[in-house]
Amino acid sequence: MEKKFDFAMIGLGVMGRNLLLNMADNGFAVVGFDKDAIKTNALESSATAGTTVKGVNTLEEMVAALAKPRKIIMLVPAGKPVDDVLTSLQPLLEKEDVIIDGGNSHYTDTMRRIESQRAFGFHFMGMGISGGEQGARTGPSIMPGGDANAYKNVQPVLEAIAAKEGNEPCVAYMGKGAAGHYVKMVHNGIEYAIMQILGEVYDILKRGKGIGNAELHTLFAGWNKGDLQSYLIEITAAIFLQKDETSDADLVDKILDVAGSKGTGKWTSQSAMDLGTGIPVIDAAVTMRSISGLKADRVKAAALYHLPEKNIATDKETITQQMHDALFSAIVICYAQGLAMLQKASTDLDMQIPLQDAVKVWRQGCIIRSAMLGLFYKVCNNNPSISNILLDDSIASLINDKIKGLRSIVVAATEAGIPSMALSNALNYFDAFTTDRLPLNLTQAQRDFFGAHTYQRIDKEGVFHTHWNG
Ligand code: 6PG
Repeated sequence: MEKKFDFAMIGLGVMGRNLLLNMADNGFAVVGFDKDAIKTNALESSATAGTTVKGVNTLEEMVAALAKPRKIIMLVPAGKPVDDVLTSLQPLLEKEDVIIDGGNSHYTDTMRRIESQRAFGFHFMGMGISGGEQGARTGPSIMPGGDANAYKNVQPVLEAIAAKEGNEPCVAYMGKGAAGHYVKMVHNGIEYAIMQILGEVYDILKRGKGIGNAELHTLFAGWNKGDLQSYLIEITAAIFLQKDETSDADLVDKILDVAGSKGTGKWTSQSAMDLGTGIPVIDAAVTMRSISGLKADRVKAAALYHLPEKNIATDKETITQQMHDALFSAIVICYAQGLAMLQKASTDLDMQIPLQDAVKVWRQGCIIRSAMLGLFYKVCNNNPSISNILLDDSIASLINDKIKGLRSIVVAATEAGIPSMALSNALNYFDAFTTDRLPLNLTQAQRDFFGAHTYQRIDKEGVFHTHWNG
């Protein structure tokens, strides 16, 4: 009997191809579909010798090549292309076949697709994959969710291809329904936030202290050796060394200051608003990408206003120590916001997300991997229902020590007129979260004053309304 293939991939862009080659390198027989023969040829020619990799140009050939129940993953752009693939697959598949959407789909689309595919008897799963092109080939972080039985069918392949922390694969079941895509969305929100924080650190040191790219490289590379060790700091250090191919300049200085986005950060902010959980560092990152797009207006405004001297008086040694502590605290606070959001979604959206497993799979392979996640994993393992990791004693003792650095940096940046929206939102979130009595009693009084919206009291139970003077 003809040998059947273990796994199929729809969409042979660089991510799809690399993920499929990773499966083949781990001993699975794989088939890749793309209408474009150039892409199927590229797949076969880049396979490691001795592995079983086949490219096909029709879905019929792909489906016929697979062992049953069929296991198919698609990596196509989010939105209509995912629905189009599902429509084309429906007449070709049988009950119990497993279809996985490994792209960055919106979680509400995934929820809708789970329902529509159930009618056909297929198992549809949403799965987040992080790690970029390189990660896909050598070991990504994988966030599958949805049908728990279907997950068991694909678990061996996913565990084989995932990044490893020690012997532990960076893949785990993320919960019910669209939990896989939800966890990946929040991962991306945290990714946006850390990137914005690093941008502000760069700006404050460059414009406020005149520190050049070579020195920035040394500083970031040094941070990457200690408790700030992380992929995003590692690549930032490398970026400062990259030369432009067409001039003598450093490439980073030649790049236009307008950031693109594909939407996952914005979706995180939108969902957090719906859940009523504050994630202001992620919101700041999304907003700063929007403000970056107002380039023409920013140039005009820069000439129109009298702005402070971009000159921070603090000596270099002190500011770099403060910056280390600021960076540490702000990054902890932005993970804390993302994890608190996951905890809220777990109950409010009934996704039943095991928080400790989300943290576990982020420890390697993904864009937000960092040494800190090892600490957060311990915290979440000890207390999987923790509402916010800032409530843990071990985190509190670290932040108590370092928050002063964040305060000093925000003050210095504010005085120098250097925007620090993510850093200051991190500090303001911390200050709000650690304030036992906020001024929202006044908000309640105002609401009751103009709209009879009622209020509660601190000294007795019940709901009250007052006929206010004036
Ligand atoms: C990852 C990345 C990946 C992608 C981002 C980019 O985890 O591998 O998050 O999914 O690079 O979605 O997002 P923006 O284009 O919105 O910055």
